[in-house]
Amino acid sequence: MLDPRSDDARRVEGLWWVLFWISCVVVAVVTGFLLAAARRRRAELHVDDDIDRRPVPWGDRFVVIAGAAIPGGILAGSFAFSLTVLNDMGSADDQPLEVEVVGHTWWWEVRYPNGAVTANEIRIPVGETVELALPTADVIHSFWVPELQVKKDHIPGADNRLSVVADHAGRFRGQCAEFCGLQHAHMEIIVEALPAGEFDDWVEREAEPASEPEAAEAEDGRRIFERASCAGCHTIKGTSAEGTLGPDLTHLANRETLGAGVAPFTPGALDDFITDPQDDKPGVSMPPTELTPDQVDAVVAYLTELE
Ligand code: CUA
Repeated sequence: MLDPRSDDARRVEGLWWVLFWISCVVVAVVTGFLLAAARRRRAELHVDDDIDRRPVPWGDRFVVIAGAAIPGGILAGSFAFSLTVLNDMGSADDQPLEVEVVGHTWWWEVRYPNGAVTANEIRIPVGETVELALPTADVIHSFWVPELQVKKDHIPGADNRLSVVADHAGRFRGQCAEFCGLQHAHMEIIVEALPAGEFDDWVEREAEPASEPEAAEAEDGRRIFERASCAGCHTIKGTSAEGTLGPDLTHLANRETLGAGVAPFTPGALDDFITDPQDDKPGVSMPPTELTPDQVDAVVAYLTELE
């Protein structure tokens, strides 16, 4: 949050620093009074004649002013300032790129207007307004990528939206920020801002059907994938696999992580995940595999070709 990469995130950073310094002053003043009170009490117990034991000059009035009026003023001021900052946020662009980010327990489905569908990694063009529509497939989640924007909840039935403009290329890590069950902590999202041309190429490629398998083992893997229960939950465009419960795997090999951030995308990690997802991510909807180790190897050979 203190390394902002968008105008809105810079506004949030400014607000953060103002609240931080106000908090520092409050802590310092309260600590000062506490020490003074402790010293006074000590002097009373030890009947130390050096200490001034006259009554506090403002008496009860001091309690009202320092205990209610000043804190009330500070809180009201902070509230008004926060509202002003929030009000300044958002973009006036009337033709933003609309990307749907659907919260699932415990991963993110990402859908582009041209039909490209991916998971857990959103690519966006630098400098352009992207409007994220934030529905949920199940419970409340919260989309939070602190370098780019404030957080916003995915709430069943609500049409929550968040606009994002990244002014630097780069990868920004986000995290579900609303407790949503056992694997809430493993609900990571990566936003990668790419130069516009690179983004256009990527999103066009991502909308295409999966490539045909090249190696013989990958060919077997595709057949196994389509016949086994994999196809009941996952889609691979261009094949008979059209399940919608789990992430779309059409271009799986372009992703950098597995299971919304539980492991980096490598053939070994993919093999482990398919063999026993409950070991990597206990509670996840995907059951342990019914395939033999050789069949899993073939499926991994196929999936790692899906660029
Ligand atoms: Cu989704 Cu926490």
